[in-house]
Amino acid sequence: MTGLPEPRDGHSVADHPTAEADLGSTTDTGAPAPSDRNSLTIGPDGPIVLHDVHFLNQMAHFNRERVPERNVHAKGSGAFGVFHTTGDVSAYTKASLFQPGAQTQMLARFSTVAGEQGSPDTWRDPRGFALKFYTDEGNYDLVGNNTPIFFIRDTVKFPHFIRSQKRRGGNGLRDNNMQWDFWSLNPESAHQVTYLMGDRGIPRSYRHMNGYGSHTYMWVNAAGEKCWVKYHFHSNQGVEGLTDEEATRIAGEDADFHRRDLFEAIERGDHPSWTLSVQVMPYDDAKDYRLNPFDLTKIWPHADYPLIEVGTMTLDRNPDNFFAQIEQAAFEPSALVPGVGFSPDKMLLGRAFAYADTHRHRIGANYLQLPVNRPHVETNTYTQDGPMAYEHRADDPVYAPNSFGRGYADEVGEVEPGWEADGAMVRQAYTLRRDDDDFSQAGALVRDVWDDDQRAQFVKTVAGHLLGGVTGDVLERAFAYWKAVDAATGSEIEDLVRREADLGAPGAQPGAAKGDAADPIRESDTH
Ligand code: HEM
Repeated sequence: MTGLPEPRDGHSVADHPTAEADLGSTTDTGAPAPSDRNSLTIGPDGPIVLHDVHFLNQMAHFNRERVPERNVHAKGSGAFGVFHTTGDVSAYTKASLFQPGAQTQMLARFSTVAGEQGSPDTWRDPRGFALKFYTDEGNYDLVGNNTPIFFIRDTVKFPHFIRSQKRRGGNGLRDNNMQWDFWSLNPESAHQVTYLMGDRGIPRSYRHMNGYGSHTYMWVNAAGEKCWVKYHFHSNQGVEGLTDEEATRIAGEDADFHRRDLFEAIERGDHPSWTLSVQVMPYDDAKDYRLNPFDLTKIWPHADYPLIEVGTMTLDRNPDNFFAQIEQAAFEPSALVPGVGFSPDKMLLGRAFAYADTHRHRIGANYLQLPVNRPHVETNTYTQDGPMAYEHRADDPVYAPNSFGRGYADEVGEVEPGWEADGAMVRQAYTLRRDDDDFSQAGALVRDVWDDDQRAQFVKTVAGHLLGGVTGDVLERAFAYWKAVDAATGSEIEDLVRREADLGAPGAQPGAAKGDAADPIRESDTH
């Protein structure tokens, strides 16, 4: 008698890690469990009694087994590893993890953005590239993507953007028309959408994609000198993508394809690694650089700011409890360490609020006390107690200043690294610089970076997406959008869509491509 439930579904009790220990099951309060097989009833055919507390506890706890999934990036996978600083960037930052020779334990989580927890790994979507470094100066979280740019440049648009990519309120379906409506009404999305529809839009695996901090961050060196940086993690496995056809087939065969690949690679000792390089911009360059260096829809050309190698991140340990270590992992761009700061990027500043706030909601106020999130240094903060608090201050002072060795934090610390700001309060995008526009960098990607094959595949991908239910004015705007990116490629997209959907010449009343003509949003879609 093992005390474990009877073996079922082909699994033997011997497979269970606790089988050898021959543990009898217990109640949650530690007493021997009365039964995990039969509830307590009045006679074999009678009702269950209310004092079957073990049964009640099992049911009640089951109802609380999940935390809400992440509002975005719900489907993800992760692993632990180490970051090794091999270069010397001490002239730019004093952060201890980036000092020559430093080795820092870390956690990485990769994800898709719009899909839910059970959604296929191979849907076309940007991939999250979230890193948590457990440094000796506290946690440093770098929460990036596999693209160096983003769809929008002001956080205020983020909820609108995400809703347009998720599901319709009425029928609960994803809707290409809604996606293109948002993109075409927000032309600053062109660079990111071009990237997304290109051959890096669906990575072959999480191991075969690059990661980017995407935002511009500030670095500060030991002398207090500041500069601006962008992070690039280049995959040492190479960058490889999937075609739409491959991705669709895999989505049907194995929705967890990327999760499985990452897990199995690490399990067989094939530890994936990425080389981190940074672009460094002198602090004063930002004032008159030809494009706004804080605009997240732009890259900094490497010819202006070349890559400087920093070190290598290697993932070498799988989670052994997915819920505790990956689902409850809480990454937040607000977790910085001395030597790293924010920048005037309006997306980054908005994110500095959003993440810790959602963790308090999704996991709980004391999410930082969970082992996966807890800094690997002693913390000494005045926040205390609250739901599920595990660490306590005991008789340590609970107020500041106090007479017991702890004054105000800023008596010993320094003001966060900042920058100068002045002017009237406004609501507007960044001041335009000489080369600031929404389409040039997207056009350069299409014309100068891609070859003919990549361009041809891109035309097919975009046209296929548009044919998936994009109609009316939205479709016309999408054609104009792509012609603004690149006139020739845009025309090819338009020709292909018109031919396939039998829409006729420009100006003709477009009919539905593949979609529901009676759809209310589409019928009223005249803006
Ligand atoms: C996840 C908000 C932009 C990368 C999330 C989550 C929220 C959020 C609420 C869920 C976090 C959780 O529940 O744990 C925002 C807002 C943005 C923004 C308000 C607008 C500025 C970005 C950008 C990037 C990014 C620009 C990349 C450069 C990620 C990643 C995750 C994430 C990688 C998943 C983190 C994980 O693996 O747990 N975001 N986000 N987000 N976001 Fe953002």
